[in-house]
Parts: sequence; structure tokens; C-alpha cells
Amino acid sequence: MTAYQTLDQLEANGKTVLVRVDLNVPMNDGKVSDFTRIDRVAPTIKELTEKGATVVLLSHFGRPKGQIVPDMSLEPVAHAMSERLGIKIGFFNTCVGNEAMDAIRATGSAGVILMENVRFFAGEEQNNADFAASLAALGDLYVNDAFSCSHRAHASTEAIARLLPAYAGRNMEAELTALSAALEVPARPVMAIVGGAKISTKLDLLFNLIEKVDNLVIGGGMANTFLNAKGVDVGASLCEHDLADTANEILAKAEAVGCDIILPEDGVLAKEFKEHAKNRTASVLEVGSEEMILDAGPQTVSHICSRLTDCKTLIWNGPLGAFEIEPFGTGTFAIAEVAKRQTQNNKLVSVAGGGDTVAALSKANVTDSFTYISTAGGAFLEWMEGKDLPGVKALMAQ
Ligand code: 3PG
Ligand code: MG
Repeated sequence: MTAYQTLDQLEANGKTVLVRVDLNVPMNDGKVSDFTRIDRVAPTIKELTEKGATVVLLSHFGRPKGQIVPDMSLEPVAHAMSERLGIKIGFFNTCVGNEAMDAIRATGSAGVILMENVRFFAGEEQNNADFAASLAALGDLYVNDAFSCSHRAHASTEAIARLLPAYAGRNMEAELTALSAALEVPARPVMAIVGGAKISTKLDLLFNLIEKVDNLVIGGGMANTFLNAKGVDVGASLCEHDLADTANEILAKAEAVGCDIILPEDGVLAKEFKEHAKNRTASVLEVGSEEMILDAGPQTVSHICSRLTDCKTLIWNGPLGAFEIEPFGTGTFAIAEVAKRQTQNNKLVSVAGGGDTVAALSKANVTDSFTYISTAGGAFLEWMEGKDLPGVKALMAQ
């Protein structure tokens, strides 16, 4: 039995169901440029309308800070979503009040309407009880299908869940199931790969992972901070020199709890951070003063890949190199390929999340083969840090 209710328990027919979705989608020139978040909430919307509910979608877009910012209107998203999902999705230019209620009534059963950006009201981010009550007044039941917003204790993710019978949508359910399979009750050994620029933003994450995983691969700019702490000269590489003590503390703690930390042995080095920059492969002990480590080297990659083939669970956040520029994605892509193969052969549960990670894995063409790719950025990180997510906790409190 799960600790939260799902659509299996929801009696939808004739009800008005408020569904918190994350339509904070990438836009380019006023057009949606990535439909992943829209596609992920489609099953919940379709299931509820098929069961005869009126579906009222609530979302934020951008960070308008309680002001009406026309550029942050959700109206273009409503149109893009209608087209993408092949269902009519109405739009109303506010999310509370009598006129909003009339618009919902006019939508009727089996209809769908998207309300304007909840962050146009200051009460949203303040988790204000009155604002939450105004939202709750629009419907009979509440569904949270926005795991990626659930690290925020906001009115439409937290307070509202205490005012109406609350349920996890199918997307939320899938996220929670996949994430708990990866970190709470994983098949062992578990490998975590953590990359990205800085350790300063990932300290809580590293301390939490050490306790939970058997192998922790540290890559990207972050790895340089660890190498530097161990006395390696990383030349002109990105490095947080002031965090040497913290890095050493993490290494010591990992050793004490039996978590094997894997750092780069070799790297792809260049003097310029640009596409096709002249580069060479060398041991991390041979970095010149003007050189930067921009990718994991072949020896490091082969070490990680061979360790990965012994693992049963992989959790991945952050690329290992500057994958955006050629050829410094080679290490990340090679490891992604092994993860893909192991997953396809049913030997590995592979879960990844975070904006950059998903972009890197998409570039490697492996996202369809991973067990689960989270659409969450901040929420995925906070979950990896072992924190309670307020929006999820509110569902559990039912
Ligand atoms: C996201 O895009 O990460 C979520 O929609 C949350 O957005 P926020 O960081 O502005 O709260
Ligand atoms: Mg964010």
C-alpha cells in the first residue's frame, strides 16, 4: 500500500478536479521548444476526462514574483498543449475569483481548462492560506502531477493539498516510484554519478549519497576540486580552491562508511573552452598551468564503465565533461551508452534527472532506453539530498 492516494482511488465522474501541473516549459520566440513536461501530464488529463471530470489545470511559468508579467502568461502554452495532445484546452486569464469559476462551469464535464499563471499572485509563493482557499474554491478534488514543483511549499503545491481531498497524478506516481526504486530500496551495488561545475551547490547531495550508494563517481568541474584537495595541480581548470577542506571531509567520510569514490585518473585537456579546441589526453598528474580538464579521459571512462557493469542501480545527476562543446562530451556519452545497454539487457535500473543531465543524455540518444528520466531539476536534487519535498509530504498527510 502506498502512503498517498492515486487516481485509482479518485471518483472523477461529475467532479471538478484541480490538477497542478508543471508547464514551466522551455520557450523560444514565444513557442514551446520542448514538450517533455506536457507529454508527461497527458495520461492524467486523459484519464480524468475519460472518467467524466472537468479538469482545471494550475501551473506557474517563470518567476513573475507576484506581479502580472504578460511575457509570463500561460496562454501560448495552452494553445501549444491543445495542438500537441490533440484535445481542446481552454484558457482563462486569471486563476481565482467568480469569473474563473464561471469559465470552469462553462468548460463542462470531460473538458479541460488551463488557468493563468498562479505566480501572478504573491500568495502563491507565500503558501498563503487565503490564496490557497481561493484556488481550492474552484474545484472538488486536487491532484498533484508536478513532482518537479514539489520542492516548493507554495499554495498550489502544499497548502491546497490540505484543503481538498488530494491525490498523486500518474506522472507524480511514476516519479515517486522510480526515485524510490533508485535510492530508498535499490538493488545493489548502486552507482551514483554526480557531475557539474561546482561542489558548493552539491554539498548536501554528496554527503547524503555517500551514506546510500556503493560507488560515487565524481566528474565535471567538481572533480577538480577533489583532485586539488588531494594535492593534484589542476592547472587552469575550474576549481573551488577554498573548498579543499570540505572535499577532504567528504573523502574521509566516504572511506569511513565504505563508499568508493571514483575520481578522474586522466582527462582531455585544452587551453581554450571552445568547440574543437586543440586538445590532448593525459594523466591528471600532468596538467599544464594553462590547461583545463574538459572531459574524463579514456582510462577513467573505461574504469567507470567496467564498474558500472557490476552495478544493478545507477542514479545520475550532472555531466562528466563540457558535453555542450565537441569533442568534450565523449566521456559522458560513452558511459551513457553502457548504461543504456545494461538497462536494455535488464541488468541495470537507470535513473537520471536535472536539466543538464537530461540535455547530455538526449545528445547521447539514450533517454528512451533509461529506466526513468526525471523532468525535475531542483526537486530531483533536493530528493537526492534526502530532503522532504513539501508538495509530496502534503499528499502523504491525507
Ligand atoms: C522547474 O522548472 O525547475 C520547476 O518548474 C520549478 O521552478 P522554480 O525553480 O521557478 O520554482
Ligand atoms: Mg528550477
